[in-house]
Amino acid sequence: MDNILSISVESDNSAHRSCVDRVNELLKNKSAIPTFSQAAVKLCALAQKEDASIDEFTHVVSLDPGLAARCLYVASSIGFAARPIENIQQALMLVGVRQIRRIAFTVAVIGAFSGFSARIDWKKFWFHNVLVARLTEDIAKRYREVTGMEYLAGLLHDIGKVIVEHYFPKEFEHVIVGAIEKQCNHAQMEKSILGVDHAQIGAAMCQSMQIHPHIQRAVRFHHEPMSPAHASDPDGDLGFLATCVCAADQVANKVIMRRKEPIQPVSLAEFAPKGSFMHQQQNALSLPLDVQKEVAKTEGDLAGLL
Ligand SMILES: [Fe+2]
Ligand SMILES: [Fe+2]
Repeated sequence: MDNILSISVESDNSAHRSCVDRVNELLKNKSAIPTFSQAAVKLCALAQKEDASIDEFTHVVSLDPGLAARCLYVASSIGFAARPIENIQQALMLVGVRQIRRIAFTVAVIGAFSGFSARIDWKKFWFHNVLVARLTEDIAKRYREVTGMEYLAGLLHDIGKVIVEHYFPKEFEHVIVGAIEKQCNHAQMEKSILGVDHAQIGAAMCQSMQIHPHIQRAVRFHHEPMSPAHASDPDGDLGFLATCVCAADQVANKVIMRRKEPIQPVSLAEFAPKGSFMHQQQNALSLPLDVQKEVAKTEGDLAGLL
């Protein structure tokens, strides 16, 4: 894992060398990387536990007043409580573990980056990331039981862009213009301008934030899920998350580009990388994704948060 995540210069280009050195410096300097609250760290651990109970979630959510308030707000706004919701446990019972996990991760991740003064359009950024998180979970559950790691991988997939935009603003402008001119994705342009892309930076950030290694790998390979770099897969599962995030990212980009048009359900077959496990499981592929529903829910998730 360390080899895959270490960032090194792949060419003799001196501009690349200085950018990569700077990125490595930033990654070493803990104050440049946001930290999760204690509650968020515990929630990440709970997400990896298949049989996590409402009681365990109640305990962790109660540790963080902001998170607790948000859970109560969402539970009340769902509107099916017969009487006012009085405590966290009641809220969690109403909302359910999966939804609580999503709220908790969204609040924790947005909170961790709230003090970060990048000149990013945060609304757009988090809309994209929350939508990808929801779609990643939606895609993954066609193939297996989801644990919460899928949502978190989607939520964090583009987190490296925060570093690129904040510390390399001039290069970032060139990336935007170049990607439009050359009709390629940002990661390819970043690689040619900076010598490193947001997927590499994001994965290294996740590593320093002690996020689960499977999530680090999904972030690292979300633009190249079929990369031979992670083809050696001891448990036959390491490419799964990256492939789901990659497909979710493409669906979300399509939605954002066609925002003014009505959003129709899409078939996963259009987005699954060729040669991936998805192509061998046609039944799951033919099921359409209800993008309209996920867009509306994403807007609801972010209401009042930004
Ligand atoms: Fe990306
Ligand atoms: Fe993305």
